[in-house]
Amino acid sequence: MADTRGNKSTNCGAVTEQLTVTICRCEEITEADVLAAYQAGYHTVDEIKRKLRLGMGPCGGRTCMPLLLSLLARLSGRPIADIAPPVVRPPLKPMPLGMFEPLLPAEGKEGGGQ
Ligand code: FES
Repeated sequence: MADTRGNKSTNCGAVTEQLTVTICRCEEITEADVLAAYQAGYHTVDEIKRKLRLGMGPCGGRTCMPLLLSLLARLSGRPIADIAPPVVRPPLKPMPLGMFEPLLPAEGKEGGGQ
């Protein structure tokens, strides 16, 4: 149910602020998107990340993960410290450092430019 300013109230804790707030700028995910996922049964950071791609943009979740943790804490009624952070995975396979040599500036190829 929305009030005259567009604020929505839910039966999931004390989330009553405007749900059009953007949580993830990179993937254009709003608080309403997260709330819909939460109400559909996606309750962990990793579940929501997989469902919505939240945190998978160019910033790698640096901006949106703290916001998601805060929102999940409010929705679940638990402290943020009790919300498990996302699982961080290394690259699919090791990459040799020499692969990046063509990207170095000219002085970097000559032993560090000193
Ligand atoms: S703001 Fe979510 S991945 Fe960048």
